Amino acid sequence: MLVDSLRGRRRRLPCSLWFLLLFAAGGLVLFIHQQDLSEMVQQQVPGQSPPAELRLSMHVLMLSCSSANALQDVRLLKRMNMYRTLLRKPRPPSEPHLELKPGLGTLGRSWKKLSDILEARRQLMKEMCAKYKSSISRTITRHHVKHLFVEDKYKLLYCQVPKAGCSNWKRTLMVLAGQAPNTQSIKHDTVHYGHHLKKLDSFDRQGIMHRLETYTKVMFVREPLERMVSAYRDKFENPNNYYHSLFGKPIISKYRVNPSWTALKTGSGVTFKEFVQYLLDVHRPVGMDIHWEQANQLCNPCLIDYDFIGKFENMEEESNFLLRWTGAPPNLTLPSFKDRNPTDKRTSMQITQNYFSQVSMLERQRVYDFYYMDYLMFNYSKPFKDLY
Ligand SMILES: *[C@@H]1O[C@H](CO)[C@@H](O)[C@H](O)[C@H]1NC(C)=O
Ligand SMILES: *[C@@H]1O[C@H](CO)[C@@H](O)[C@H](O)[C@H]1NC(C)=O
Repeated sequence: MLVDSLRGRRRRLPCSLWFLLLFAAGGLVLFIHQQDLSEMVQQQVPGQSPPAELRLSMHVLMLSCSSANALQDVRLLKRMNMYRTLLRKPRPPSEPHLELKPGLGTLGRSWKKLSDILEARRQLMKEMCAKYKSSISRTITRHHVKHLFVEDKYKLLYCQVPKAGCSNWKRTLMVLAGQAPNTQSIKHDTVHYGHHLKKLDSFDRQGIMHRLETYTKVMFVREPLERMVSAYRDKFENPNNYYHSLFGKPIISKYRVNPSWTALKTGSGVTFKEFVQYLLDVHRPVGMDIHWEQANQLCNPCLIDYDFIGKFENMEEESNFLLRWTGAPPNLTLPSFKDRNPTDKRTSMQITQNYFSQVSMLERQRVYDFYYMDYLMFNYSKPFKDLY
């Protein structure tokens, strides 16, 4: 009886009161975050990156506020901007620009420049890690090294960041390992499904630690939004049973209004906007994938002290520099195959901007937020001028 009457009363609570309660709770969370911010920046929670956490709670808030007026959004954005200014470190003095096509005579000089740039990247990474990640030394587990490929002959560990020149590096590693005479002779499927290269997590603890301590550790990154668009184009704009079935179906069924029977059945035709909605959803209907996961999440650069942080944007020069550095055969250079959908144009910044014109300003902002740690750690500048 009592329960019944209570239930009845609750049902009668006006909808607007619930909204009020929701905002009150949201405001409280925001307030607590503000209070704890300075502590978080210095102290840092082990195993978590505070800004990402902060962002996540902002996103939850923004989601819960999405039905409110735009003013609320603007105020939240301003606050986020304030946080970011607090979190951001001052930029180091600029470094000399890279010579892209060195003549033979200037080779030595240009490589000196390149090694300075590489060193600056490592330093920046160290500063970012000191600032945002745990100061308590965390132990490396098998899970942390599961994306690292092992090449024992030349003592290389290569962290796989898909859509950042990964296939061409896999080919190169196979040649180094003596599994193929040259990179041209390796077929696409062999690169991707052959399982010829060993992963570091397949070794025992001692094997893992020994290699981490003595091998050259390498990772390559790419402009985060460009990489994300590249992943979308590769997996959703081309026939791909695996991705359409595993990701396409739940994405279409959650975000598309009135999906057709065929779309639900095949999972084909996910739009870029739908993909963005999925990526930003705190309750994603299906998990993340290495093709669009943040590079810092895949390679754990704060735990693993990479000797070499290369950039896709200058892939060939930096890779060949690395190959000479490791003592690879002189005639081995990084190939430039475009394995996936060779007829599609390579994703450029121009193409990336075209894709992002299909989503709202707020969504674009939130995708940038999503990859913000990659932007900070790998020193990429804001891809759009109007981002906070
Ligand atoms: C970061 O990038 C900017 C602009 O591209 C460059 O001037 C600066 O030297 C870079 N800093 C580091 C530490 O790599
Ligand atoms: C490099 O040269 C050797 C000997 O001439 C040859 O066997 C090998 O295939 C070449 N490697 C590449 C990557 O072209």
